[in-house]
Amino acid sequence: MKVIVFANQKGGTGKTTSVINVGDALAREGKKTLIVDLDPQGHAAVSLNLDTETCVANWLMYPIFNTIPLSPEIMNQWIRTTRRENLYLLPGNQMTAKAQRLLTIEEKPINYIKDLLPAIRRMGFDYLLFDTPPSTGGLQEMASWAADLAVIVSSLDYLSADGVSGFVEMLKVLHTQKRWSGRLAGVLPTFYDEQTRTTREQMTHLQKAFADQVFHPIHRATLLREASAEGQTIFEKDAKSRSAMEYGALAMHLSKLT
Ligand SMILES: Nc1ncnc2c1ncn2[C@@H]1O[C@H](COP(=O)(O)OP(=O)(O)OP(=O)(O)O)[C@@H](O)[C@H]1O
Ligand SMILES: [Mg+2]
Repeated sequence: MKVIVFANQKGGTGKTTSVINVGDALAREGKKTLIVDLDPQGHAAVSLNLDTETCVANWLMYPIFNTIPLSPEIMNQWIRTTRRENLYLLPGNQMTAKAQRLLTIEEKPINYIKDLLPAIRRMGFDYLLFDTPPSTGGLQEMASWAADLAVIVSSLDYLSADGVSGFVEMLKVLHTQKRWSGRLAGVLPTFYDEQTRTTREQMTHLQKAFADQVFHPIHRATLLREASAEGQTIFEKDAKSRSAMEYGALAMHLSKLT
């Protein structure tokens, strides 16, 4: 099971949109894919037209209140089908924030989430994608630690470089001080609009800083906004659209990285 975290401490950069659409692209390629929504806003569920639920919080708090180890049977109570073949969701809601506070109070270590993954691994998933909240803190760090690959989702329509460098600094600390086994897959530019100066400046900036680790950008597209508002993936909304091609190509690219 390949684990990929999508992150940026800035809000509204396209993290959830990217997770949902990469997830559906992988699922359509026949890969059994689980999206885990670590954001208390619960937008991953909303974007898939499902209910937000306390599942992530229950999962995170399980070892604190139980002695029986997590198993696929226990995970099955919380993992939802999405009415899409091969695509599954562990939904979250505002209780995820409470779970995070409890983990902080209990001083849970950085490997806490990684240690919760073997039960999910045994369920035969090919991919686990973490959607993360727009903040820094325990859950992002724990999810990054559990990940094989990290994707930084960077919006090009405003100066979002701070969000990128904050997360990169965190990954460096994981790498050098704690011997993280994962790696930065790359930076994903979103809200790309070649007509605007900000886009061109931001692209140049990212390419200088990350060279070949900058993915092909995702264009700003009304269709993407409409799809998530309607609870559809871009492949359901319009599989022939440029956005669908872009997310399909990103999923393909990520599937080839080791
Ligand atoms: N490429 C795009 N073009 C146009 N609209 C987009 C694009 N990507 C995302 N959006 C829209 O922008 C809004 C924010 O996107 P999204 O929810 O994916 O960001 P996020 O980083 O997950 O936000 P948050 O930090 O609040 O979790 C949503 O309404 C979404 O539909
Ligand atoms: Mg989001």
